[in-house]
Amino acid sequence: MKLLVVGGAGYIGSHVVRCFLDNGHNVTVFDNLSTGCRENLFKEGEFIQGDILDIPLLQEVMAGGFDGLVHLAALKSVEESMSFPEKYSVNNITGTLNLLNAASESGIRHIVFSSSAAIFGNPQYLPIDEDHLKNPPNYYGFTKLEIEHILQWYDRLKKIRFAALRYFNAVGYDPEGRIAGLEKNPANLVPIIMEVATGKRKKLQIFGDDYDTRDGTCIRDYVHVSDLATAHLLAMEYIHKFNTSDCFNLGSEKGTSVLEMVESAREITGKPIPAEIAPRRPGDPGNLVATSAKAYKTLKWKAQYSDLPTLMESSWNAYKKHL
Ligand code: WQD
Repeated sequence: MKLLVVGGAGYIGSHVVRCFLDNGHNVTVFDNLSTGCRENLFKEGEFIQGDILDIPLLQEVMAGGFDGLVHLAALKSVEESMSFPEKYSVNNITGTLNLLNAASESGIRHIVFSSSAAIFGNPQYLPIDEDHLKNPPNYYGFTKLEIEHILQWYDRLKKIRFAALRYFNAVGYDPEGRIAGLEKNPANLVPIIMEVATGKRKKLQIFGDDYDTRDGTCIRDYVHVSDLATAHLLAMEYIHKFNTSDCFNLGSEKGTSVLEMVESAREITGKPIPAEIAPRRPGDPGNLVATSAKAYKTLKWKAQYSDLPTLMESSWNAYKKHL
């Protein structure tokens, strides 16, 4: 297939591009390099630097004709979305509408969308399946849920078929070391742990140790980014084959606490990784774990690299190059 990957120079996007290229597809990356980086681009395929707010450019690019579109371009900081919702309205919602309209006009009918576990909010039950109540506790999660609703309308009115992939906690790096770009100013646990391990940060703050969990720290479902990339390939193939839309929760189905992540990182990096207990981060649920049974049943997808040692070793392999 000839695919346009919007946001393909980013952390997850570059792994998705790598997976499509490894499976013989033709990929064009469209990215404004605001958070993505050139070192994440591959010599195969095309690259167009541009912004999803540039409607004429989107129309020109899409006139080139593509069999499908993968949309990963979005701002993703939960905290920033609560302080600057306007940025998230424009980049995440308006930007996506621009993409959808240009795709619709140019005849692109198959879209894989990067959604998020943040659409669910506090769990009513665990593990979280696709039918769980969607009550996003932050504006970032709201933008992702709104885009899913818009996609449902475009499916109904414009016959655009989509797969919305709700990532739980994406971590790790390409096990073959082919992707090296580090996230800039990360807010997420594992990149912050790695910055402490490389000495870029002095210590880790653990946001609360008084949750109702086995060691008091928050539990999350950490899933390897290469596993997520495979899900994008399987989802695009599914849409092409069955010309239908659907939503999938993507996780390892394993819960790991913050302290367990820190201990694993200390063991694998051999670094002390100083950490201190800090106050809870507002809006953090104590426990978030997915069931990906639907993705397994429908897409035949199952996480392969999402064991804790692989998650941590592949992350350290990327970060230790920057020691
Ligand atoms: C994980 C755990 C923190 C940093 C968010 C989005 C989600 C997805 C992933 C995009 C939490 C704790 C963190 C630190 C800490 N993003 N932590 N000290 O909040 O589960 O999910 O990012 O799709 O949609 O909601 O991920 O990595 O920020 O936090 O103690 O310095 O680590 O409290 O329990 P989160 P995270």
